[in-house]
Amino acid sequence: MDLARETMTDLIRSSWLIEAARSDLFAGWAAASGEWSESAELAAARAELFADALAELERKPDLHLRKGHTGWLRGVVGEAPGEVPLGDLFAARLGDWVEAHTAGFLGDRGTRLKELGDRERAALKFPDDLPPPPPFDPVETIEVQPPGPIRFRFAILGDLHFGSPMGERMAAAAIDDINGSGAELVIQLGDLTDHGSAAEFEMATSALRRLEAPCTTMLGNHDVLAIEEQKFSGRELYGTAFGREADGVMIEHAGFRFAVMDSATHERSPFAPFNFVTGTFVEGPGGALVHGSFTVPQHEILADIAAPNTPPAFVFLHHPPQPFLGFPPILFGLREADSGRLHATVDSGNVWGVFAGHTHRNARTRHYDSVPAQEVAIPRDYPFGFALVDVADNGYAFRFVQLSDEELLREASRSASHIHRRYALGRAEERSFVWTKPQPTL
Ligand SMILES: [Fe+2]
Ligand SMILES: [Fe+2]
Repeated sequence: MDLARETMTDLIRSSWLIEAARSDLFAGWAAASGEWSESAELAAARAELFADALAELERKPDLHLRKGHTGWLRGVVGEAPGEVPLGDLFAARLGDWVEAHTAGFLGDRGTRLKELGDRERAALKFPDDLPPPPPFDPVETIEVQPPGPIRFRFAILGDLHFGSPMGERMAAAAIDDINGSGAELVIQLGDLTDHGSAAEFEMATSALRRLEAPCTTMLGNHDVLAIEEQKFSGRELYGTAFGREADGVMIEHAGFRFAVMDSATHERSPFAPFNFVTGTFVEGPGGALVHGSFTVPQHEILADIAAPNTPPAFVFLHHPPQPFLGFPPILFGLREADSGRLHATVDSGNVWGVFAGHTHRNARTRHYDSVPAQEVAIPRDYPFGFALVDVADNGYAFRFVQLSDEELLREASRSASHIHRRYALGRAEERSFVWTKPQPTL
């Protein structure tokens, strides 16, 4: 397999982190239950293989991310075995993901990886039928007020995936709710389409035309490559659909700047999508590479944002910046060099917040001092909604809002598993928060 060195390095870094976290998770489960110690040892041995592979690439494992990633994993599958239905099998499937993506190019280490995986799987029983998802349970909006009088409100509309089951209906419901929300502008976070086809772009533009407030969209990884034709036609289709080059754009509103970055990378993923139910790749071609990057014109936008004596700014991009935890860690985020540039931009003091899509969850990726990098959940998937931001002179209030169409929510909830709910909902402080501009120190 021909993998670019950066992709291979990030894949091995991700795999080390996943196996290290699985090992720590199972060790905790072993302490709680007396079982799982063998799984902990097997995962630790697998992590060791990736540490060796990284040493050959002259790269150290990301030790500083281990604790955070283990914490994330516990949050999804439970502190104790059996706490979350199918939590144990999901933790095993993460190991299957690692194996499917790496064993083929790791030589003898790949063979050893598989042997260790076979021993782990031998102790597990995968059910023929999945248990039913939990019943519908509405998500209340946690109301928050900005630190001063509201100057204006804007909406953040996450990935839409037109062309996927429920994509169109859930997007339409979100558009209705945003029209009634008082938002003066809307920023959409990419993955407008599911397969990057011309028909899906058309669905997206005709639906978004119903928004009463001006909306700025961006290219996501699902948009750049037309899967059926295996052609990078997204830039062209996007230009026709939305009337701009997909190289980032800066808009201004009420004395604020909104930098909208097209962070999708124009490279093919060497992998087909992975099915977590079966633990194998889906038949057929893969999409674009899942990690993000900025083109040169987007670096120019960041330089503009960071210039002295310029207005405050919000930055929007499809991919969460590094250090990215979640699944798969590292590999799924904005590449390291571009994350570093974004960090420097925020350090200018002009940026009030960074908002990303791609992960379909509410989560705080990180903070830059006080400034949050926030991931926003989507209309199509649990918890089914969008975000509203109330901006004041000295800060803002962010809150995630679930869609209001209860009948539609009930229907959509039937495919939201326990695992997915724990993954995507976000803690209270990741669904609603207030940011206040720090006072300059003398
Ligand atoms: Fe997406
Ligand atoms: Fe995405």
